[in-house]
Amino acid sequence: MTWRATALTLFPDMFPGPLGQSLAGRALEQGLWSVEARNLRTYGIGRHRVVDDTPFGGGAGMVMRPDVVSAAIRDVGREGRPLVYPTPRGRPLRQDDVRRYAGGPGLVLLCGRYEGVDERVLEAEQVEQVSIGDYILSGGEMAALVLLDSCVRLIPGVMGSEASGTEESFSDGLLEYPHYTKPASWEGRDVPDILLSGHHAAIAGWRQTESETATRMRRPDLWAAHLARTGQDTGGPVSLAADPERLH
Ligand code: ADE
Repeated sequence: MTWRATALTLFPDMFPGPLGQSLAGRALEQGLWSVEARNLRTYGIGRHRVVDDTPFGGGAGMVMRPDVVSAAIRDVGREGRPLVYPTPRGRPLRQDDVRRYAGGPGLVLLCGRYEGVDERVLEAEQVEQVSIGDYILSGGEMAALVLLDSCVRLIPGVMGSEASGTEESFSDGLLEYPHYTKPASWEGRDVPDILLSGHHAAIAGWRQTESETATRMRRPDLWAAHLARTGQDTGGPVSLAADPERLH
């Protein structure tokens, strides 16, 4: 069955955008997933199809009207699909969420522009608010594309043999170990000897250590969660200055 995405947006031409290329693009052609972009302007008010207005209480920017946005939402056959509103105010998107979304029938994505969407429609329509990171994009479309990409690659048949699934970053809560390929020596930099040794157990151990080191240095939040999960003491906050040469 096809995994279905519907995007509600003022910029329908942004879809599928980059997802028309590469793995996602091939899967789209094969019918493994689909994306329909609906123009929110269609639901705008009056001859000028107005979709936004000034914020009550004052302040900069414009807010998308709840009557317009709800009309668009109610016109979509959700058919069990979560309705997701990408916004920097949302809870951070995690791989667990992605797995949940990819395992369902699809997504309806509400893409905001301007300062955002009137809060009442978000309450009334059981909208999941999701952030893709602590930075501000100019609208929800790019975030929606990021979210779709993360889901589409998990749809059975999309990645073929290219994803092992189990060994990726975050699947065990740690960052991935570093990768190397030919040539074994490049511009005076050699691939770690152990990777050329053929000792599979030793290689697995080295990779585990590299994963742990990268996570500890770069992502103290993930490292603390890992330690809590594996029942180890955090030993207090991790010093990022401990070995500044170790990671780049
Ligand atoms: N819209 C604008 N910025 C965003 C972000 N960081 N995450 C999700 N949606 C957004």
